[in-house]
Amino acid sequence: MMKKYEKILTGIKPTWVQMHIGNYFWAVKPAIDLANQFPDAQIITFIPNMHALTQLKDPQRIYQNSINITKWLIASWADPERYVIFNSSDVPAHAQLTRILMCYTGMWMAERMHAYKDAIQKNQKDRLNLGTFAYPVLMAADILLYDADAVPVGKDQKQHGELALELARKLNNAHGEVFKYPKIIVKEDVATVPGVDGRKMSKSYHNTIGMFDDAKTLMKKVKQIKTHSIQVDEPKNPDECNVYNIIKLFLSKSEDEDLRKRYLKWWLSYKEVKDYLYTKLLEYLLPFQHHYNDISDEEIVAYLKQWAVVANEIASKKIIEIEKAVGFRR
Ligand code: ADP
Ligand code: TRP
Repeated sequence: MMKKYEKILTGIKPTWVQMHIGNYFWAVKPAIDLANQFPDAQIITFIPNMHALTQLKDPQRIYQNSINITKWLIASWADPERYVIFNSSDVPAHAQLTRILMCYTGMWMAERMHAYKDAIQKNQKDRLNLGTFAYPVLMAADILLYDADAVPVGKDQKQHGELALELARKLNNAHGEVFKYPKIIVKEDVATVPGVDGRKMSKSYHNTIGMFDDAKTLMKKVKQIKTHSIQVDEPKNPDECNVYNIIKLFLSKSEDEDLRKRYLKWWLSYKEVKDYLYTKLLEYLLPFQHHYNDISDEEIVAYLKQWAVVANEIASKKIIEIEKAVGFRR
């Protein structure tokens, strides 16, 4: 039986300007699904703007992206009563704990991290800032401050989750049981969403389907999706079809099974499946867009402020415990 999680924590980095369906199904939807799976759990979905600052130096975007992500979560039916969403910069304990953890992180531990290693291998050390080097330690602080039971992360973040556990173990061994060991849940099953040209959907490839595209734009983009030249009456492998790999995100289990059967048999035209995708996109995105447009930035700013109070209550208690453990206070 699956363990019951009471506190689930995840961070969504505010580096996107416009959310596309790849971002949504990778980051936002799994957080909502997990929340639905554990209806009694508290969900801390914070916005690591202090992490974003390693890459993004545009103050307007740093500020606005957090508001947008919070709005996306709420527009995607995240229940504001159960969620605690806040900017990491609004909770000083993140920076305080980072400093403490840095003093327990060997240089060799930090040098082993992917982002640093990649930069060295590509001879790009000059482009790194100290914030990037210490990025995994800040993430460990984010994770350990809240005594979470479960932390879902993307595959690329698995190593950072492991570092958090390693640091927890180090401090616990040295100073008694200070930290809980959360389960790091790696989202292996969230596959790459293809863009209209068949490559990974990415804003840099200009091949995205945006969460805010209107009906006309959606129609245009669906028509652009690259397909094979297999005849209507020939069987097709759904997993090799870009249209299928997008539409499956929006299908129920039984709809998916039906569609797969039709691919594998015959008489399924790409026109037909593209029309189906268009209908599904409208069905899914239009209510989301209406809901999103109904929420004002001011409402979100007020929510973020309220939630930061809740987060500060938890984190400031924890940091006192940690400061006692390392000897800053009695
Ligand atoms: P983009 O590639 O559009 O620049 P980002 O790099 O800003 O997107 O994406 C942020 C996160 O969303 C990444 O960690 C990435 O794993 C996830 N993501 C982005 N595009 C996709 C996609 N097409 N399919 C699945 N996940 C994606
Ligand atoms: N580094 C994560 C990412 O790029 C974001 C993040 C920061 C995070 N702190 C976290 C995720 C703590 C989970 C828990 O996606």
